[in-house]
Amino acid sequence: MKNSKKFTNAIVRVPASNMIEGITTSLEGQPDHDLALLQHQSYVEALKRCGLDVAILDPLEDYPDSVFVEDVAICTSKCAVITNPGADSRNAETAFIEPALSAAFSNIEHIKEPGTLDGGDIMMVGDHFFIGLSARTNRAGAEELIRILSTYGYSVSIIEIEGLLHLKTGIAYLEDNIMLMHENLADHPEFASYTKIIVPPEEEYAANAIRVNDFVLFPSGYPVTAEKLRRTGLKLIELPMSEFRKLDGGLSCLSLRW
Ligand code: GLY
Repeated sequence: MKNSKKFTNAIVRVPASNMIEGITTSLEGQPDHDLALLQHQSYVEALKRCGLDVAILDPLEDYPDSVFVEDVAICTSKCAVITNPGADSRNAETAFIEPALSAAFSNIEHIKEPGTLDGGDIMMVGDHFFIGLSARTNRAGAEELIRILSTYGYSVSIIEIEGLLHLKTGIAYLEDNIMLMHENLADHPEFASYTKIIVPPEEEYAANAIRVNDFVLFPSGYPVTAEKLRRTGLKLIELPMSEFRKLDGGLSCLSLRW
């Protein structure tokens, strides 16, 4: 594979013991914290296998969704952006990520009111960023991020989404011009030039995967999509995600990567 971004670092946060109080629309039942801890350890091991240096932050017991660190910041090769999460119960999580990012980034920017923005709505494709407008990310937040990213020389497109928690609930950029996506995003003109791998409706959760250097981290239990990815030559590390799925969370949500 060529033309892939090289990642060296990740930040994760251990699941809080009150994660059963996290926001969810899932009908799959309450997460089991012990099993979530095991699944989280497997995720960390997978990131290390991909060559990343992984910083593991302590659980935040006041924030049941805080394991989903992706939503509180955006990491680029030139700056980190602290977001302003759109869910009230998650908004203050940002204060607990900034110290960890300050050690790694000399340029730290912030999304401010009236803008709201979740990192799960931001998809990086080389020097271009797609911003999903969702129930969490409003237009003011998107415009603020455009202003910030433009000053660093990045380009941006806005994607209006429906029926998804976040943009990356329905689409993942797997490098090498490959986009994994839900069928209803396939005709979007912004994605016309990419090689598209469509996730079948019965495997929709599998659209949230992440390319990390030589591997794609992929949720276990989605064989049709897994086979499609393998046929393109991608190497998968399949990971159990059942307990995070119960909180509407996917593989990308569990880390910040740069
Ligand atoms: N449960 C993850 C979120 O709603 O942000």
